[in-house]
Amino acid sequence: MTVVQVYPKGECHYDNREKSIDFHNIWGQFFWADVLDGLAKLVDLYRSKIQLIYIDPPFMTGQLFRYRQRIGDKGIIEHVAYRDQWKEGKKDFLDFMRQVFEYAYEMLTPDGSFYVHVDYRTSAYLRILLDEIFGEDNFLNEIIWHYHSGGRAKKYFSRKHDNILFYRKSPDHYFNIDAVGVKRGNRKRNNMKKEVDEDGRVFWSIKSAGKIYRYYEDSKVYPSDVWTDISHLHQRDPERTGYDTQKPEALLERIILSSSRPGDYVGDFFAGSGTTLAVASRLNRRWIGIDSSPHSVHVCRKRLLAQEDDKSFAIYYSNNKPKGEPVISIEKGQTCSMPLIMNTIRLVDYKSPKCAVKDTKNNKDLDLVGLEHVDYWAVGYIKDEFFYPISCQKRYERDKVIKDTMQLAVPSSDELVIQIIDVWGNQYFYQL
Ligand SMILES: C[S@@+](CC[C@H](N)C(=O)[O-])C[C@H]1O[C@@H](n2cnc3c(N)ncnc32)[C@H](O)[C@@H]1O
Repeated sequence: MTVVQVYPKGECHYDNREKSIDFHNIWGQFFWADVLDGLAKLVDLYRSKIQLIYIDPPFMTGQLFRYRQRIGDKGIIEHVAYRDQWKEGKKDFLDFMRQVFEYAYEMLTPDGSFYVHVDYRTSAYLRILLDEIFGEDNFLNEIIWHYHSGGRAKKYFSRKHDNILFYRKSPDHYFNIDAVGVKRGNRKRNNMKKEVDEDGRVFWSIKSAGKIYRYYEDSKVYPSDVWTDISHLHQRDPERTGYDTQKPEALLERIILSSSRPGDYVGDFFAGSGTTLAVASRLNRRWIGIDSSPHSVHVCRKRLLAQEDDKSFAIYYSNNKPKGEPVISIEKGQTCSMPLIMNTIRLVDYKSPKCAVKDTKNNKDLDLVGLEHVDYWAVGYIKDEFFYPISCQKRYERDKVIKDTMQLAVPSSDELVIQIIDVWGNQYFYQL
């Protein structure tokens, strides 16, 4: 069938046929934009409204970071997800970060918290900037996240930690250490005696300077500012999305649980693979994400759709005109079962505008054909310039080819639109 390309402003994973659009009813909002453009648009809308902002910006490494995507047994495609390169080096980077910090300060609630995830390269410089913007007295912690992964240095001590700078907006900041306590547990303690009290509770005791101290196994211990109990994601970790620099969910859980309440807004303006957004959603916090990489948008979309919490979210596109034109072939069949129409839609063929695919792992041609190029497709309708998917198909790592057929029963007034995202991160919409 012939199809016509259309250009919605964004997509809403939210059933909204009846009502007019109300973004405050949507749980999560992702802005596919450069962070400074996105924040300039959002600052007035969210001034003093975000309880917690966590950012994990580029570390000024001078490197390219990748997204690795497995196409079943055909191999792995490696995309450049983002470039951490700065024309004028440190000056450029610090000017950029200053603007991000100023926007973040404006958007935090009076009792809000700001966490900036950095490493040895920039922590000292950013600390000075943050002290200027937030005030020295509002600096609370430099959290050391210690891990073991990565290589070992021989000419200096191996660098095995990241730094997370934690600021409050004001002395009235919200902080709930109880939410992140962990049970002391039944680990054996040297030089302590294990005993049971009159209520049957187990404790360990020690005598020091004439005093007896009791440590109950079921009491909580609270994390200090050195976190050694959260490991980096290992190669086969089920959390892994293939997006470089992805942080573990356990790290974000600790930050979100201690510094926000259910229903609060949590922001991450360098969303990457969507760790903050996925954890915020699971913990019943509303979220706002920004990222400029098309691969980040796509990884976040798939990750959020795979979550069991089933919360609504929207993605806003800053540029909705895709590059190049694929060649597509679609079949649509309809049967009437009033008041609904049953549609059977089959994606027959797809030729991506980009070809000559390389398998970076084995350095041979991947030789993708037809639907092997398609990573995600959805069918829905457009309302108020936003695309509302009704049903979608996702390709999983182990699959070479995505499922090609969808059936959906919709009101006869619906004009169906198909969204196709290929393995290159290109996305297209067509009116059927
Ligand atoms: C270190 S990664 C974040 C990883 C994330 N915390 C996670 O767990 O997956 C940094 C992200 O910042 C994004 N980024 C870099 N510069 C940006 C800019 N100017 N505007 C928007 N996003 C940007 C990159 O695309 C990348 O996804």
